[in-house]
Amino acid sequence: MERMDDLTAEAIAAGLETEWAGREMILLDSVDSTNRRARMLAADGAVHGTLVLAKRQTAGRGRRGRGWISPEGEGIFLSLIVRPEGTPEQAVRLSLAVALAAARAIVRETGIDACIKWPNDIVAQGLKVCGMLLEMDADEHCVHSVVAGVGINVHQQAFPEEIRHTASSLDLLCGHRVSRAAVVRAFLEELEAAVALDNRDHEAFMRAYAERSATLGSRVQVISLSGTYTGTAEGLTHSGTLLVRTDDGELREVLAADVSVRGIMGYV
Ligand code: BTN
Repeated sequence: MERMDDLTAEAIAAGLETEWAGREMILLDSVDSTNRRARMLAADGAVHGTLVLAKRQTAGRGRRGRGWISPEGEGIFLSLIVRPEGTPEQAVRLSLAVALAAARAIVRETGIDACIKWPNDIVAQGLKVCGMLLEMDADEHCVHSVVAGVGINVHQQAFPEEIRHTASSLDLLCGHRVSRAAVVRAFLEELEAAVALDNRDHEAFMRAYAERSATLGSRVQVISLSGTYTGTAEGLTHSGTLLVRTDDGELREVLAADVSVRGIMGYV
């Protein structure tokens, strides 16, 4: 059985069944943000699949300018450097593969019914357990690298007031202490599998994503700079933007960067 607090490079690498994801690994005791560090390493030529992991972050970054609370010993804070081979559209779609991989890794290691709340949250029992921040370095011709940052709440027993009603941790939801090394390893393996499936059979990949989606088919409220509207999430485009049929019957394409999408009945 794996040691309980086993976030070491050796524990993650033991039995890791990937070809590229996490084959290079940098484990830091403390860093401002693994995404920031990974972007610097990517600019310096770090290889495809390099994993940057920290035991704590002093300035963890969330989506839409928010922070990500990253105390030592509680969560998983990782960034993976990916150098996508395909089109920029495929690179953008990587966010779907990262979300699918995180959800599947959580299901695999905890048995919790984790689902994807588009675009980048993993939720279980209506509560957020994981968030993702993808940052791309590209010019008009090609994508040089994508840094996929993932934060997973694992051992937290309590949360700050502002997220107390919307966040939870894997330990709290499954009722026992989860191995962080095992979740990281599962994430790396599932990501490699998801990217391979998308390259081999895009339709099958989209079906696999839809099976884990909490958003598709649901009633949603879209909160954007230009206003708020409600509708039903009908599907995704090939680049991963959300298609929402508004209550007025109009089909709107929703870009992840622009909006907050909420379920009508609460957070999910
Ligand atoms: C969100 O839900 O707002 C996204 C949170 C992403 C947090 C992770 S933790 C590891 C990586 N480094 C960061 O600074 N952010 C991401």
